[in-house]
Amino acid sequence: MTVTDPASISTSTAAKPAMQAIVQDAYGSADVLRLARITRPEVAENEVLIRVNAAGLDRGSWHMMTGQPYLLRLVSGIRRPKNPVLGLDVAGTVVAVGSAVTKFSAGDEVFGFGKGSFAEYTVAREDRLAHKPLNTTFERAAVVPVSAGTALQTLDLGNVEPGQKVLIIGASGGVGTCAVQLAKAFGAEVTGVCSTTKLDLVRSLGADHVIDYTRDDFSDGPHRYDLILDFAGNPAISRLRRALTPTGTAVIAGGEEGGSWTGGMDRTLRALALSPFVRQRLTNFIAKQRASDLERLTDLIEAGKVTPSVDRSYPLERVPEAMRHLAAGEARGKIAITI
Ligand SMILES: NC(=O)c1ccc[n+]([C@@H]2O[C@H](COP(=O)([O-])OP(=O)(O)OC[C@H]3O[C@@H](n4cnc5c(N)ncnc54)[C@H](OP(=O)(O)O)[C@@H]3O)[C@@H](O)[C@H]2O)c1
Repeated sequence: MTVTDPASISTSTAAKPAMQAIVQDAYGSADVLRLARITRPEVAENEVLIRVNAAGLDRGSWHMMTGQPYLLRLVSGIRRPKNPVLGLDVAGTVVAVGSAVTKFSAGDEVFGFGKGSFAEYTVAREDRLAHKPLNTTFERAAVVPVSAGTALQTLDLGNVEPGQKVLIIGASGGVGTCAVQLAKAFGAEVTGVCSTTKLDLVRSLGADHVIDYTRDDFSDGPHRYDLILDFAGNPAISRLRRALTPTGTAVIAGGEEGGSWTGGMDRTLRALALSPFVRQRLTNFIAKQRASDLERLTDLIEAGKVTPSVDRSYPLERVPEAMRHLAAGEARGKIAITI
C-alpha cells in the first residue's frame, strides 16, 4: 500500500506535525481505505492527545466505512464521511493534554474512545478515557471500549442478577465474547448462540450452554430466559418473546440482517410499540461512551474476571485486510490494529 497525501483532507503539513493514518474519501468496501500522511490532530481544552499503540476494529467501524445502513449517514456525513479517519477503540500513551484536563498527564497509559484511532495519533475526550488496566497489553486493552462497554451497558439495562438465565445471541462476536464473560462475572447462567466453528470459543469464555444457530433455533424447546441480549441475526420479535420467561427482558442491540437502509430499525420500533402492552419488556439500546464504564471494566480485567478476546492483530497498513476478515464473519472475538 502506498502512502499518499489525500487531496480531500485540508492539511498544511509544512507548519504542523504529520502522521500516518488510514483514511477514506468515500463510503464503500475496504477498497476505499488507504494509508495517508495527514496533519496530527490538536487537542481541545477537554481532550487528550494519544500516541496510539493499538486500536480495536469493531462492527461500528465497518458501518462507518460502508456508510450502511444509510440512516447512519445522517450522523456520519451524507455524501462522504465527515471524519475521514476510521477507528474508535484506542489504547496508547498520553502525549499532551488540553488546558481543562485534570485526570491525565503526559506519559500515562490509557484506553478509551478516540476520534479516529487507525492512526499514529488520535485525540479523545477526557470523559471517554481511563487508565489502561495494569495486567493487560495495549493490544488487549484496545479491543475493550466499544465491545465490552456495549456488553456492560446491555447487562445493566437488562438488570442482570445472579442466578438469572441469560441468552446471548451473537456470543462469538466482539460484543458477545465480552457479554458472556461479564454475565458470568455477575453470576448469571449463560447460554451463547453462535455458529458451529465458534462453539468451542464461547464455551471457553465460560458459557454454561451453547446453541449452534446453523442447526437449532434458540426459541424452540423448553428453555426460557430471564434476559436476552440480541446482538445478531435480527430474530423476529415473536421468537424473542417465545424464548423469554413471562416477565423477561429482551435488549435489542444489534444485527446485520436488517437491510441496507435502516439496519432493522423497523423491528426495533415494533418491539418498542408492543412492550407497554405485554408483561415482557422489549427494549432497544444505543451505546454510550463513558469513562465510568471503562473504569468498571478495568476493575473486572484486573480481577481476572474478564479477558479481552483478541482473534488476531494487523499492522496499520493492513486495516483493509482486517476489515475483509471481519466482514467475512471469520473473526473470533475482536481484531486489533497495532501501530
Ligand atoms: N446498539 C449499539 O449501540 C451497538 C454497539 C455495538 C455494536 N452494536 C451492534 O451489535 C452487533 C454485534 O456487534 P459485534 O461487534 O459483536 O459484531 P461481530 O463481531 O461481527 O459479531 C457478530 C456475531 O453475530 C453472530 N451471528 C451472525 N449471524 C447470526 C445469526 N443468524 N444468528 C445468530 N448469531 C449470528 C456471529 O456468530 P458467528 O460468527 O459464529 O457466525 C457473531 O457472534 C452488530 O450488529 C453491531 O453493529 C450495536
